[in-house]
Amino acid sequence: MSSSDLAVGEVESHYTDMIGQFKQVWSMSGHKSIHAGYHDDHPDSEESAARNMIRELAETAEVDSTDRVLNIGCGAGDAAVWLVRERDAEVVGVDICEPLLDEAREHAFEFEADDQTSFVQDDFHELSSIDEEFDVVWGLESIEHSSDLETAVETVRRVLKDDGVAVFADNFISTSERSGRDQKRIETMNDRLRYNLTEIETIKEELTAGGFSDVEVRDISEYVLPSIKSQYRLSVATLPWYKLMTPLGIANRPKSDLVHGSYHSYKLFKKDVLGYYIVRASA
Ligand SMILES: C[S@@+](CC[C@H](N)C(=O)[O-])C[C@H]1O[C@@H](n2cnc3c(N)ncnc32)[C@H](O)[C@@H]1O
Repeated sequence: MSSSDLAVGEVESHYTDMIGQFKQVWSMSGHKSIHAGYHDDHPDSEESAARNMIRELAETAEVDSTDRVLNIGCGAGDAAVWLVRERDAEVVGVDICEPLLDEAREHAFEFEADDQTSFVQDDFHELSSIDEEFDVVWGLESIEHSSDLETAVETVRRVLKDDGVAVFADNFISTSERSGRDQKRIETMNDRLRYNLTEIETIKEELTAGGFSDVEVRDISEYVLPSIKSQYRLSVATLPWYKLMTPLGIANRPKSDLVHGSYHSYKLFKKDVLGYYIVRASA
């Protein structure tokens, strides 16, 4: 099974420390997503690609105006607002990071989506604040942080209606055959980005063991690669500086983690060791 020692509190601190960095990116990019883009537009931009990813996931779950969606690891609420504005759905967002939830509430208010959204602090392994059932559970780059996938899947099933669906878009390890060097890169990514990356086969097995049926997986790595590559280019330019300055306490630690993580992510994508997948499962 796929449990690790990664503490939820560590993930929370990581995202709290990253807020300044995110705000800088959001102010330049025109969106508040914290996920890779889906590049199928010409010409494309990170902003349209970020929206495309949300659209792809919404189409996979067939979200419509009759649906109540639980967005686990909702971040700053970009997908929640999109689901209200584009699908007229109702959305409850949960996240462990309170500053991101504040951003989400502000974002929903700004785009007049506050009537159909609410945002609460909770851990998706527990969801103790959730006492209703949803049509859709939605996770966009959140379960890559799960320290215990089995419990996360059980919890997701508990809050879904019997005809509900779970959809995830995330990084997964594509193969069980990898070199020692690849494994080391995975461990560096886990360490730097507070991930617990698991194999795509593992999530399929966990969902099936957790009582889900019709588990479908779509490899969308080719559409995500431009996002991964542009992060890599930035990391190549700045990695030597961070390597030198971080031990001296001069460089920003969260930024340094992100740069290291982006570097190894691209290397693993290029070798098809890491991939990006959309997963859909029926309750
Ligand atoms: C890569 S960000 C993605 C945010 C958002 N889904 C988006 O696409 O913009 C991962 C998010 O998952 C949240 N998260 C990680 N582990 C969590 C947990 N155990 N329970 C709830 N939220 C969690 C983080 O705080 C962060 O907001």
